[in-house]
Amino acid sequence: MGLSRGVSQQDIKAVLSTSMRHKQLSHKRWKRNALLAISTFALLASVKSMAAEESREMTAQRLGSGNPLIGKEKSDAGRCQECHGEAGISSDAKIPNHAGQYAGYLVKQLNNFQSGARKHEVMTIMAEDLSAADMADIAAYFASQKPIPGDGSGENPLAKNLFVNGDQARAIPACISCHGDGGKGRIADNITYPVIGGQRRVYLRTQLVNWKLGERSNSPEGVMNKIASVLSEDEIDALANYISGL
Ligand code: HEC
Ligand code: HEC
Repeated sequence: MGLSRGVSQQDIKAVLSTSMRHKQLSHKRWKRNALLAISTFALLASVKSMAAEESREMTAQRLGSGNPLIGKEKSDAGRCQECHGEAGISSDAKIPNHAGQYAGYLVKQLNNFQSGARKHEVMTIMAEDLSAADMADIAAYFASQKPIPGDGSGENPLAKNLFVNGDQARAIPACISCHGDGGKGRIADNITYPVIGGQRRVYLRTQLVNWKLGERSNSPEGVMNKIASVLSEDEIDALANYISGL
């Protein structure tokens, strides 16, 4: 299976297809045991292989407590993957990518859709019947995937300046002070700052507009509402273009 090469995405795929084959020829109990054994293997492999880019501890933090292989099954083509993509890359610029997103952030959003703290017609229905374990497993599956880097096409000095430096005059902190370099996300003081770099352009724009209008209000202490409320529409457009290109 080439696990020793430590290329996480391919390895996970190979392990997944093996687990699919096992599934076809086995009865339920055996299937479950095999899946669990294989998944531990895959988890270790992904932890090892991502270590070149980030520490083992950071990778474990990104994946959370769920099981990515069980999450793959639970989010299958008829469900989450139909819109968010089998590889976590969405089918439409309005739909967010989940590839490489922090599991803890995804789980928080699913809980927020379930409780009504975040509203969206489709996602409210999608989240409705997910258990805590379903959320953790599905989130781990998407978190284990490799994000596609943006193509830099939204390069724009105004957006870059806001992103890197903020604007003291309007009390806008730099986006990178929370979302990290390149918007790659981070966990600090028990808050998960989502990956926004490379996220879908129309989705980013919608979220910033929703924060500004107060239609989304689930960030800790309303921080994103405060920030977006002072951004102009042009700045929001420029930021969405720039950040999706990172
Ligand atoms: C019919 C398409 C569709 C399906 C199926 C779907 N989603 Fe979504 N999802 C969306 C859209 C559209 C949004 C953006 C919502 C918004 O604009 O606020 C979204 C947003 C999300 C978010 C928030 C992401 C973020 O970055 O804040 C999560 C988490 C999520 N979906 C998980 C899931 C899971 C898990 C499933 C399966 C149980 C699922 N989705 C099924 C369309 C879909
Ligand atoms: C003080 C910390 C902080 C700063 C500064 C900050 N953010 Fe955020 N941002 C957050 C947190 C926390 C969340 C997650 C909210 C949640 O849990 O729903 C978030 C969420 C977002 C989202 C939604 C992501 C998604 O997948 O739905 C976008 C878009 C975003 N921020 C853009 C920005 C931009 C652009 C800037 C700079 C102008 C910025 N943020 C500055 C803390 C911050």
